Amino acid sequence: MQLSIFFLAIVLIRQYVSAACISSGNQNTINEALSSGGTGAIVQLCAGVTLQIAGTISFTAANQEISTAGYPTGSTRATIQIATGNDVSTLISGAGYSGIRILNIQLDGNRPNAGFFNGGGANIEIGGTSSGQVVKYVNSRNPRGWSCLHVAEGGITSNYCTNATVSNNDIGPCGESGTNSAGQGQWADGISFACTDSLVEANDITGSTDGGIVVFGAPGTTVTGNTITSSSTYVGFGAINLVDGLYDGKFTNVQITNNQISGSHLFAAGISIGACVWSGPCKSPYVYTGPATVSGNTFTGHVTFPIAINGWTDGLTVFYPAACRIYQYLHSLGSRQRGLRCRHTAFKLCV
Ligand SMILES: *[C@@H]1O[C@H](CO)[C@@H](O)[C@H](O)[C@H]1NC(C)=O
Repeated sequence: MQLSIFFLAIVLIRQYVSAACISSGNQNTINEALSSGGTGAIVQLCAGVTLQIAGTISFTAANQEISTAGYPTGSTRATIQIATGNDVSTLISGAGYSGIRILNIQLDGNRPNAGFFNGGGANIEIGGTSSGQVVKYVNSRNPRGWSCLHVAEGGITSNYCTNATVSNNDIGPCGESGTNSAGQGQWADGISFACTDSLVEANDITGSTDGGIVVFGAPGTTVTGNTITSSSTYVGFGAINLVDGLYDGKFTNVQITNNQISGSHLFAAGISIGACVWSGPCKSPYVYTGPATVSGNTFTGHVTFPIAINGWTDGLTVFYPAACRIYQYLHSLGSRQRGLRCRHTAFKLCV
């Protein structure tokens, strides 16, 4: 009798454990768990599993979480991958829900097999009118659309996105350089970030082809301690961009500090600052404003312009890199770029 109770207990424990994490299914499995769980639902995938999806996974309430059981940080993180033969580009969306968390999981847009998707959303689409969203220890790679991770603005004069945390993620590769046969740009950002009073910290971004971290105004946000390395095969446009003018061009109290930027094949620019750096003639009707601080960032490898500034007013503090080593020149373009030493290029203007 005691023995059968013992076995019954084991069976019950097994059932509990297997119910506790999702080991198979698709987007519907996760979406049903989110919607039936409601506010605060924690939906976990089992370590090591891969789920193919043909539709977007959507948060449905505040404080929900999607993660891998046990919170591993390496290759045993569960993988969610877009299947071939569909027009899905966003794996997880959650704009407008405060306190949601995406933790310790791998998200593969599967561009090499599912294909580039012109006009498609980012792998992760969150932000919106919300506060306290968190993305940590997540791998996001091969987006079919324009970015590996997009934290969008809410309203830009009220109903802000605020206090998002994006940290310790490994991001990339994101996109390819150049256009396809239809003339569509195939590049993609690493992190596209528009949330205010937020933190983008200690992320490792390798192989972004548009901007590594693109700061869309995002007043009050700090971008610190990130490592951004360009692709070894594709050209990357920029490592950190402050070139997009949401919030009427206000970058008030934005801090870009202690990031390590490394050009493998090539970063055309390291940190681009202002309304007129990215495209000429100046695409914005107004110049951008600070005060903003750019300090302690380092540059190694092939980076054409470590820091480029044009189209800015009202406060910008740029400190020289503490350990700047820009000595290589551009093999891929065949000729040495004059004045490439960082001392002379730290305030390069591009027009
Ligand atoms: C910001 O968000 C984090 C994560 O959700 C939370 O722990 C923290 O309390 C929030 N801070 C404020 C000031 O709301």
